[in-house]
Amino acid sequence: MPGVPRPYRPRRSGAAPDGDGARAADLDDGRRPGALAFSVEALRFVRSALTRSSAVAIYDFVGSSNYYTRDSLYVNLGYWRRAGTLDEASQDLAGLLAEAAGLGPATTVLDCGFGFADQDLYRYERFSPARIVGINVTPRVAIGRARVDAAGLASRIDLLLGSATAMPFGDGVFDRVMALECAFHFRTRLTFFCEAMRVLRPGGRLAVGDVVLGGSRRDDLKSKLIDRMHRRMWHIPDANMYPRQTYARKLAEAGFTDVQVESIAADVFAPYLAYCERFARSAPERGRLNPLLRVGPNMMMRLGWFDQYDYVIATAQMLKGGETT
Ligand SMILES: C[S@@+](CC[C@H](N)C(=O)[O-])C[C@H]1O[C@@H](n2cnc3c(N)ncnc32)[C@H](O)[C@@H]1O
Repeated sequence: MPGVPRPYRPRRSGAAPDGDGARAADLDDGRRPGALAFSVEALRFVRSALTRSSAVAIYDFVGSSNYYTRDSLYVNLGYWRRAGTLDEASQDLAGLLAEAAGLGPATTVLDCGFGFADQDLYRYERFSPARIVGINVTPRVAIGRARVDAAGLASRIDLLLGSATAMPFGDGVFDRVMALECAFHFRTRLTFFCEAMRVLRPGGRLAVGDVVLGGSRRDDLKSKLIDRMHRRMWHIPDANMYPRQTYARKLAEAGFTDVQVESIAADVFAPYLAYCERFARSAPERGRLNPLLRVGPNMMMRLGWFDQYDYVIATAQMLKGGETT
């Protein structure tokens, strides 16, 4: 599509790094794990869903069967205004959030929950920020790091193990803080807002792409069950489940000004599910999807899974020095 940059394509380097390296090589090759490996992943996933032990296991599980993406390792629902594939849609969402944040050559950026680093490689290429620092809670940070190294960008993109709710940084060190499709996991999102406020410089900006409760919540049994499963499966603390008006209030509570929380749900949920359903039914690569990923989108469409949720882009400003609210 003219004007739409292609998704970042991972380089296939021969040598796998230490630690998570073997898994990184699996992901890069897009191979499907064997039956035993899949069963182990499935058990871990079920256990973590039942115990709410970690918001990370689910991404390991999804990543291991390579999801509905072809060239990239994004794990988001995508922004579907122009995109034809999930790789393009995910990249467009990463770009949309970077535009909302006002990324530019002079900015120092903190990216929370960077997945496997596609978004940082892409944003670096497109917006040339002075520096990107990423934090993620999973030891699979190693995969992102290996990809950054392979792209020769280790001096510009620094990926660290750490949580968005207890940031390993001093006060006032970033111009931008971003979080793409992950703040709903954080314990809690409000703690993250306060941490973002702390690490931002005066005049800095926060931009978040997030899933919240929709305005038209239903109270029937089916909707309640879906909501319960949704929170469990995606490890969403109850304290994070509120609509966008409350979202704006919490940002203000954390000290931000110029708060805007806009819905982009129409360009996210339905086109995402339609694409994944088509992919699972007819894409030449569908054979590599695990059984859950094969039937999931169809089931979710039938159940109206996302009907009670909203997808928002939220932006907020830290006051410049000397200003008062
Ligand atoms: C849905 S994925 C999105 C990944 C990536 N932003 C993308 O769009 O491809 C959510 C990400 O949030 C990360 N995450 C969960 N809890 C976190 C926390 N407390 N701090 C930082 N990252 C976290 C997960 O490990 C995962 O990488």
